[in-house]
Amino acid sequence: MIETRLTRAFGLEHPVILAPMAGVAGGALAAAVSRAGGLGLIGGGYGDADWIAGQFAAAGNAPVGCGFITWKLAGAPEVLDAVLARRPRAVFLSFGEVEPFAERVRAAGVPLICQVQTRAAAAVAVEAGAEVIVAQGGEAGGHGASRATMTLVPEVADLLAGQSPDTLLVAAGGIADGRGLAAALMLGADGVVLGTRLWASAEALVPEGQARAALAATGDQTLRTRSVDVVRGLDWPAPWDIRVLGNDFTDRWHSDLDGLRRAGPGEAARWQQGFAEGDARVGNPVVGEAVGLIADRRPAGEIIAGLTAEAAALLDGGWRT
Ligand SMILES: Cc1cc2nc3c(=O)[nH]c(=O)nc-3n(C[C@H](O)[C@H](O)[C@H](O)COP(=O)(O)O)c2cc1C
Repeated sequence: MIETRLTRAFGLEHPVILAPMAGVAGGALAAAVSRAGGLGLIGGGYGDADWIAGQFAAAGNAPVGCGFITWKLAGAPEVLDAVLARRPRAVFLSFGEVEPFAERVRAAGVPLICQVQTRAAAAVAVEAGAEVIVAQGGEAGGHGASRATMTLVPEVADLLAGQSPDTLLVAAGGIADGRGLAAALMLGADGVVLGTRLWASAEALVPEGQARAALAATGDQTLRTRSVDVVRGLDWPAPWDIRVLGNDFTDRWHSDLDGLRRAGPGEAARWQQGFAEGDARVGNPVVGEAVGLIADRRPAGEIIAGLTAEAAALLDGGWRT
C-alpha cells in the first residue's frame, strides 16, 4: 500500500483520483473507484443538473465528489450549490477562473481540487485557496493544454514547496499503470488523476465500439484538436483544446476549422450519431496518449488494485531489476 499526504488527507487506501470525465465518469464508476480505495468523482462537466442528480443517485452511499468545467459553471452557478448541498467528498474545478467559486466551496466545508495546465495557473489556484492542485500535462485525454506532465509536475512541486507547502499536488496526464504512478510520486506528486485508464473500465459510460477502437490504438494515434469542439458547437476558450483518438473526421477537419464551420449541421449530426453509436471512424473517442498502454476493459477496482500494486513493487526497488 502506498501512503501519501493525499491518502491521509482524504482517508484513502490508494493515492488515486478518478478524473471527473464529462458524461463518462458517472455514479457507478465514481462509486467503484471510491469503494476500491480511491477518490471517485462524478464528471459534472457542462453542468446538466438532472444528469448530475441521477449520477449521485447511482453512486448510492459511496462517498463521491463532483467535477465541473469552470468556464461553463460561470453561466449556471446554481448547479454548484445543488452539488454542495449533497455534501460531496470534494469539488474539482478545471478550465476557467476558480476565484468566483472557491469561497462557496470552502464555506460549505468541501475540499477544493483545482486542475491547472501551467505554473502560473497553479499559483492563482493556490491564492484562491485550493487544497489540492492537479498539474495536468498535455498527454492527457480530453481538454487540456500544451505543457508536459514530466516538467509541469516538478515545477509546480517546487512552487508549492516554496509558497504553500501544505497544498497537495496531484499529477494528471499520461498515467495509466504502476510505472506512471511511481514516476508521478518521484516527480513530487502526492497522487495521480486517472482519466483514460478508467475511461477504459467496465463501469465507464463509454460505448463498446469506442472502447474496442481505443484498446486497439497506440498513443501515436491521438492528437490535440479544436475540430471536435467546433463540430459539437462548444465554444471552448483559449488555450484549451481536446485530445482525442484521430480518425477520418480529424484528418479532414483538424486543419480546416473554417471549412468545418461552413459545412453546417449535416457534419455535426453525423459526428454526434457516430459518437453515440460508438463508431470511432466517425465520432472520435476522447482519450489521451495513455491509450497505448491499455490492453483491456476491466472493472475499475481491478485496475486500481493492479496499478497500485505494481507501483508499490517498483517503489520498493523493483525498478532495479
Ligand atoms: C473522456 C474524458 C473526459 C474528460 N472530461 C473532463 C471534464 O469534464 N473535466 C475535467 O476537469 N477534466 C476532464 N478530463 C481530463 C481529466 O480531468 C484528466 O486531466 C485527464 O484524463 C488525465 O489524463 P489521462 O487521460 O492521460 O489519464 C477528461 C478526460 C477524458 C479522457
